[in-house]
Amino acid sequence: MNPRSLPSVHTPPRWEPATLARCHDLGSDVRLFEVRPDSGATAPYTPGSHLPLQLEFDGHPQTRHYSLLEEAGDAGVYRFAVKRLVHSRGGSEHLWQLAPGDKLTIAGPANHFPLSFANPEYLLIAGGIGITPLYGMALALHRAGKRLRLIYVSRDSAREHFATALSALGAALEVYPDSASAAPAIQRAVAALDPAGEAYICGPAGLRRHVRALWEAEARPPWALRYETFANGGERPEETFEVSVRNLGISFEVPPHRSLLESLIDHDIEALYDCQRGECGLCAVDVVSHEGSIDHRDVYFSARQHAADDKLCTCVSRIAGHGRVVIDTRRQGIRD
Ligand SMILES: Cc1cc2nc3c(=O)[nH]c(=O)nc-3n(C[C@H](O)[C@H](O)[C@H](O)COP(=O)(O)OP(=O)(O)OC[C@H]3O[C@@H](n4cnc5c(N)ncnc54)[C@H](O)[C@@H]3O)c2cc1C
Ligand code: FES
Repeated sequence: MNPRSLPSVHTPPRWEPATLARCHDLGSDVRLFEVRPDSGATAPYTPGSHLPLQLEFDGHPQTRHYSLLEEAGDAGVYRFAVKRLVHSRGGSEHLWQLAPGDKLTIAGPANHFPLSFANPEYLLIAGGIGITPLYGMALALHRAGKRLRLIYVSRDSAREHFATALSALGAALEVYPDSASAAPAIQRAVAALDPAGEAYICGPAGLRRHVRALWEAEARPPWALRYETFANGGERPEETFEVSVRNLGISFEVPPHRSLLESLIDHDIEALYDCQRGECGLCAVDVVSHEGSIDHRDVYFSARQHAADDKLCTCVSRIAGHGRVVIDTRRQGIRD
């Protein structure tokens, strides 16, 4: 069975050639890239935007997205920071092999995480490399004179770089080395946020779940909590698990380097999906039974729905403990 790359249901991006102009390390595993479109013109973009890149690795074209850092040094370049992930399908590793002058394929900036600017107060919470979309937002809010608090939780090698680059925020920036030390500050910040305030989060699944639980406990409106997910890993490492699709009578293994969604498509099973980041819920299927624990990596379902273990988002969630799962795909796309 040949693994396939998944197309998006959105309008295909308009790819264009570009050149890596410069790159340098912000830390031992985070590198800054400056990419110049060969047309010579960059498109304008708003805080929270990202740049789609088409990379050739693993035998076929794959799309990866990188949040654009504000305040490009030179006009005419897009700047983004990439964390090198060793246990991944290889997109970040591929970028780390590039040298100035190498060719790239990019599309114009897109923004799925727009900043409203309309509210009296903003709480931004970044975990690790999740600082990248919030970096430009924090500087833009600061310049606009908005009330703002940025809680940055990171052990990353680039932490000092970003903390220094954001020093204009003064006391509005709080930096913590890990979630345990940040937890009391996050709890206080959620409780103290203006009732009309908004929170923007980008970081690992555990951080997002923690903030969401606090948000729900404070009975704050769900629409005022905004996420960007980087399709991050879950609580457990990727392992092989077995899946049986009850309504089709088909069983197969999902290897560590393929998602359940990719494996369904590899086996010619029609599957609905959109974001492929655990945000939209379109890929969700019913779980009939399972052995081993479900590592829910989506942000679409609530904590209560995760605990029920009766649905999972096939694009990101997995079974841990070399387990197995029986699913039913007939209700795909039906929202409860
Ligand atoms: C809008 C947006 C903005 C982004 N901005 C940045 C940025 O500024 N900087 C940055 O470094 N990254 C950013 N990313 C993430 C980036 O696009 C890539 O996902 C990242 O570089 C990893 O790519 P990869 O191919 O190396 O890893 P991938 O293989 O895509 O792995 C990414 C994560 O998915 C998990 N994973 C891997 N395989 C599977 C599988 N089979 N099933 C389930 N989970 C799996 C891994 O544990 C890993 O944590 C952004 C992503 C999005 C969507
Ligand atoms: S495709 Fe959007 S949650 Fe899976």
